[in-house]
Amino acid sequence: MDKIIVKGGPRLEGEVAVSGAKNAALPILASALLADGKSVYRNVPDLADVKTMLKVLGTMGCGTARLTGEQADVCEVEVHGPIHPEAPYDLVKTMRASVLVLGPLVARFGRARVSMPGGCAIGARPIDQHLKGLKALGADIHLTEGYVEATAKRLTGGTVNFDVITVTGTENVMMAAALARGRSVLENCAREPEVEELARVLNKMGARIEGAGTSVITIEGVEALKPVEHAILPDRIEAGTLMVAAAITGGDVLVTHVVPEHLEAVILKLRETGCTVSPEARSIRVKAPRVLHSVDVKTTEHPGFPTDMQAQLMALMTVAEGTAVISERIFENRFMHVPELHRMGADITIEGHTAVVKGVRTLSGAPVMATDLRASASLVLAGLRAEGKSEVQRIYHLDRGYERLEQKLRGLGADIQRVKA
Ligand code: EPU
Repeated sequence: MDKIIVKGGPRLEGEVAVSGAKNAALPILASALLADGKSVYRNVPDLADVKTMLKVLGTMGCGTARLTGEQADVCEVEVHGPIHPEAPYDLVKTMRASVLVLGPLVARFGRARVSMPGGCAIGARPIDQHLKGLKALGADIHLTEGYVEATAKRLTGGTVNFDVITVTGTENVMMAAALARGRSVLENCAREPEVEELARVLNKMGARIEGAGTSVITIEGVEALKPVEHAILPDRIEAGTLMVAAAITGGDVLVTHVVPEHLEAVILKLRETGCTVSPEARSIRVKAPRVLHSVDVKTTEHPGFPTDMQAQLMALMTVAEGTAVISERIFENRFMHVPELHRMGADITIEGHTAVVKGVRTLSGAPVMATDLRASASLVLAGLRAEGKSEVQRIYHLDRGYERLEQKLRGLGADIQRVKA
């Protein structure tokens, strides 16, 4: 298995470009199922999760391709001829976002068989709200042999009030409602930029969706959608991770290809730590202070501080002056980076959903490993600051969600390399 070797110390400086957003690309690729013909997507990050989604679509009978050379950021999905509307366990167990094909399949083909995702490293993560939404649109849902089977002659518009705010749940039901007969109103929706981006794509395909990005989304179902060409928005979590990389190394970095409005909560927190954060139209410059101050953070749904940045901010707090209280409100088990940060000398105590981080003067390099994507990123960040060498193992987690992270950090002056197994 590949690992990353990072020697802490260098101050990061320079300019780095952010790739397309994983969590926008995944539902958008699934939405190709809603139309007959070839959809073309640009700025699609080359990530393990994107490959998995293309594989899910491929096993159903869609034509999928990633172009090469100067067009290596382009993915195509062609839906043509018979579709086998099933997402098998082997693929869903490697990526729970595969469940995003459920809504499009039942809406367009009247039938879907999708493996239940089960729990994962960061929490139980049920999909009851996805199912509640599809039922409200008239789908018949059965759970058999670990699979969700959904059928409907044609979905009909309905009202869905989500009990829990869910990103992929909102996306799944929104995609289904786009082809339902009549009007749907989705209440208590996730307001993440990726939900808004999916609605933008669906509307380009001919859907009639209003209100995405707010908590109430209204959808007038249409008879058919057409394929689309679209460039995926930048990844705000990758951008935030690179911003923390600048902060934790005492650096000065210009992060480009970003939408600063998507990062407001992260910008405010970094400013509280003493960083100078200067957003421009499509870039953000982060200049670290001489001494970082501790800040308290509570993760919440967008526009609050994102759970996907919690581990990275915690890495930063391990070396800030003072004590930080970090509350994780979205996932019940998202502190697996803590024991690994301990191995690097961090002082962190967990009480339920809260971590109390007392800043230490120095971290020391160590072999570490992580069990999820953002936890891996936090260990790389800690390694950039630690004295000596850190070896981050199991980086297939990192490869699920960061495109060439080590190359990007090396471009900023980090002493970091990937060692092939
Ligand atoms: N939940 C339910 N029932 C449901 C759905 C969700 O109880 O039917 C609960 C979850 O267990 C969790 C909370 O609601 O406690 C929020 O989960 P949500 O459904 O919003 O998460 P998700 O859609 O599965 C997406 C991202 C995650 C990100 C979360 C929260 C994608 C593909 N994934 O997951 O991204 O952490 O939203 O913002 O969009 C990552 O990129 O590292 C990642 C984990």
